[in-house]
Amino acid sequence: MYSLGSALKFTLFGESHSEHVGGIVEGLPKGTAIDMKTIERDMSLRKPSVGIGTPRKEEDRVEFTEGVADGVADGGPIRFIIRNKNTDSSKYAKFNTTPRPGHADLPALAKFKGHDIKGGNQFSGRLTAPIVAAGSMAKQHILAQGVEVHAFTRSIGNVRDAEERTVRDAEASEGFPTRACSADLDGKMTSAILEAADGKDSIGGVVECIAVGLPIGFGGIWFEALDSELARAVFSIPACKGVEFGKGFALAEMRGSESNDPFFFDGGVRTRTNNMGGVLGGMSDGAPLVFRAAFKPTPSIGLEQDTVNLKEMRNDKVTVEGRHDPCIVPRAAPVVEAVAALVIADQMARGL
Ligand SMILES: Cc1cc2nc3c(=O)[nH]c(=O)nc-3n(C[C@H](O)[C@H](O)[C@H](O)COP(=O)(O)O)c2cc1C
Repeated sequence: MYSLGSALKFTLFGESHSEHVGGIVEGLPKGTAIDMKTIERDMSLRKPSVGIGTPRKEEDRVEFTEGVADGVADGGPIRFIIRNKNTDSSKYAKFNTTPRPGHADLPALAKFKGHDIKGGNQFSGRLTAPIVAAGSMAKQHILAQGVEVHAFTRSIGNVRDAEERTVRDAEASEGFPTRACSADLDGKMTSAILEAADGKDSIGGVVECIAVGLPIGFGGIWFEALDSELARAVFSIPACKGVEFGKGFALAEMRGSESNDPFFFDGGVRTRTNNMGGVLGGMSDGAPLVFRAAFKPTPSIGLEQDTVNLKEMRNDKVTVEGRHDPCIVPRAAPVVEAVAALVIADQMARGL
């Protein structure tokens, strides 16, 4: 079991090819409304889209086993499961001998005695399903307190959305399979994914997340900083290889006169620009919280790759058949949104 947060704590359990995956959410106040339709909609956004995703079919129905009665939290731990319906792992057996480059196979086999790479086991993207379910509960909880979080796809391969985007644009991306903000970009990103898939290859990209409604001063400092806890949680998502806030790495090439976000008064203190992504000293400066997460191309690809045969300790080749997304970026967007909501809800519960 793996946990995130303390006052509002989420615990993740299960494996890709076990009976179920699931989670426990502790700290949601008694009486918090939990809307099943909203959870189902969020879960559907994590599912692969026809044409650009894996053919693995999962119903992803969230079943509460304790903590929720008649759509309301009873104040105790909320436990839920999501059944795994697709558990044929025969195609994975060879990776116990010839590990896939780019996946967790090699270090997992070295670390855990008797490890079996059925479906990627505890390293599978399947475990992001309970994260999205718990994040959906956290999103409903923080929305009731005026904070809204949405994510969208900023880029796939070299197809990049160059527009400044708002939280409303991010929300509208739910209407496009790639989670792009426009039909034009959705078409171009789809072509990039299909082109990679045609070559038995995969492709990566960047998810951007925007949260609005955080008051100035919200968030912890130092090791509890809003950005540091968010970064830690987002980096825990499989295949995430970079996180940046606001203009991020581009700030390193600016002068202070260009990068600082000047303040002005308009009924309250506001910033003219948002190069910092809404965070100063670990706390909200009142501007929208904006961060991006880079996802690497899906490691499992159909092309032949070099590996080592661990039984015979000699060079070998490996190819991956079976159900794998040529691009996980659209499915990662709701996961980024979920961990952001869980971290914000936890910082709220801690009174930071
Ligand atoms: C939503 C989601 C779905 C994923 N699906 C796959 C997949 O189908 N095939 C695959 O090889 N990796 C998939 N991954 C990525 C692997 O789980 C990940 O690369 C692996 O666990 C190694 O971890 P690391 O990339 O963080 O080092 C997925 C990740 C996410 C977030």
